Amino acid sequence: MSSTHPDIHQEKILILDFGSQYTQLIARRLREVGVYCEIHPFDLDANKAIALAPMGIVLSGGPESVTAEDRLHVPDYVFTLEVPVLGICYGMQAMAEQLGGQVATSTKHEFGHARVNLSGENTLLGDLSDAAGDDAPYLDVWMSHGDKVVQVPVGFEVVGSSANTDIAAMADEQRKFYGVQFHPEVNHTLQGAAILSRFVKRVCGCLALWTPANIVQDIIDTVRAKVGRGRVMLGVSGGVDSSVVAALLLRAIGDQLSCVFVDNGLLRQGEAEQVSRMLDDDAFALNIIRVSAEEKFLNNLKGIQDPEQKRKIIGNTFIEVFDEEAAKITDVKFLAQGTIYPDVIESAGNKDGKAHVIKSHHNVGGLPDHMQLDLIEPLRELFKDEVRKIGLEVGLTHDVVFRHPFPGPGLGVRILGEVKKQYTDLLRQADAIYLEELRQADLYDKVSQAFAVFLPVKSVGVVGDTRRYEYVIALRAVETIDFMTARWARLPYEFLERVSSRIINEIPGISRVTYDISSKPPATIEWE
Ligand code: XMP
Repeated sequence: MSSTHPDIHQEKILILDFGSQYTQLIARRLREVGVYCEIHPFDLDANKAIALAPMGIVLSGGPESVTAEDRLHVPDYVFTLEVPVLGICYGMQAMAEQLGGQVATSTKHEFGHARVNLSGENTLLGDLSDAAGDDAPYLDVWMSHGDKVVQVPVGFEVVGSSANTDIAAMADEQRKFYGVQFHPEVNHTLQGAAILSRFVKRVCGCLALWTPANIVQDIIDTVRAKVGRGRVMLGVSGGVDSSVVAALLLRAIGDQLSCVFVDNGLLRQGEAEQVSRMLDDDAFALNIIRVSAEEKFLNNLKGIQDPEQKRKIIGNTFIEVFDEEAAKITDVKFLAQGTIYPDVIESAGNKDGKAHVIKSHHNVGGLPDHMQLDLIEPLRELFKDEVRKIGLEVGLTHDVVFRHPFPGPGLGVRILGEVKKQYTDLLRQADAIYLEELRQADLYDKVSQAFAVFLPVKSVGVVGDTRRYEYVIALRAVETIDFMTARWARLPYEFLERVSSRIINEIPGISRVTYDISSKPPATIEWE
């Protein structure tokens, strides 16, 4: 079947990453504008860059100093490919220095809000302003730098300055090279989205083809072309990613899809039933195999205290069970996974040894070599917020699309130390009360993730006239954008009081409830 949607990859922006904590944000902002972009390391090979055929290049910020001996260089092709270039922070300084300007280390660091006064005419910033009325045009921006450009290269004009930085923005309209000292990708730069949009649309000439409807059609076509008449297997968990993959594959290949859902005994209350219901829904009519493997998982976890060892056991047991089920389905040629773009970037980072392993996350796991299945990863190019948009586009409900994330090892990492059936049952009840109350109070969608944690320590209490000596539940709720950093959620006291009293009164095995007020860092979101 042929389709009429445009080639969504024909317009591409290349983002070269110099190590800024905001690089992924640049990509997300460009995608929001509707333009496909890829993040690559700053030293991306020239041939690979040329093969990508970008319509423009963005140089990210970074922690290095342009004045340092071992500074990171912008590859020469960036300035000879004859495509527009936008340098942000370090990217602007490196561009200035390499094209013949000058950068100096400043004693005055500029961090946080700043006002950039605009001057001159240029396609990027001209006629943008946060000033009201007749005030001279200025932008309220977010700065984070020590070094600064003190002389622009030949061909450039200074188009913005702040109190601490005479050259806060520069432009060479002829070559379409632009530099901004501030960070347009962060929300604190009020016109940031407009600036990035102008760069890709006005300057680079992109039409913004990267829309949910086009992406869905592209994924469907790509999957059909790859799979042919083959059978695809998918592990579903009820989480957003695997649900979106299931819905997409169903549209693409219908009954050539077989889904496996493993109940590992570490799921939340009613979750197994909920997933089956959702995926058995007529709209999905999935070929779904449900495996009850609680006993196997709990047996394998017996006596194990160490969090990393628990994660490995849960991951390996999952693969074992999945493998057994897969062997029963004949003609499987492909394995579908819900890998998303941050996983791709992160594993590239891990390969280079840049990232530290704090916890070994294994929602995808590795499958045994003998399975020899080709991988189908329809979400590989998408950020989480894009996956959610695609989910809505293919008709998943708000509840499914906006579910809080649930870790692959499930309640296994929310029970401290050894996992026992008695503990999982208690935790499930407490967690269900907490989530029910959150929904009722209209707070579920206001926090990014909320859950209960089981502490295997005993504490004294009195319920009615009876002394109780039972376990402790900790409640956790966080607000975060990217789950890399998180702030504990300021839930109302009255709400916490209600949840606490329900948990203690309704669950005989619990005598005390606490609320976790640790942010990330230094704590992590999960307790293990
Ligand atoms: P941490 O605890 O590292 O969690 O701050 C960050 C986010 O990742 C989730 N998480 C996991 N997800 N497998 C997963 O699929 C895992 O092993 C895992 N561990 C943590 C966590 O729920 C939070 O959203």
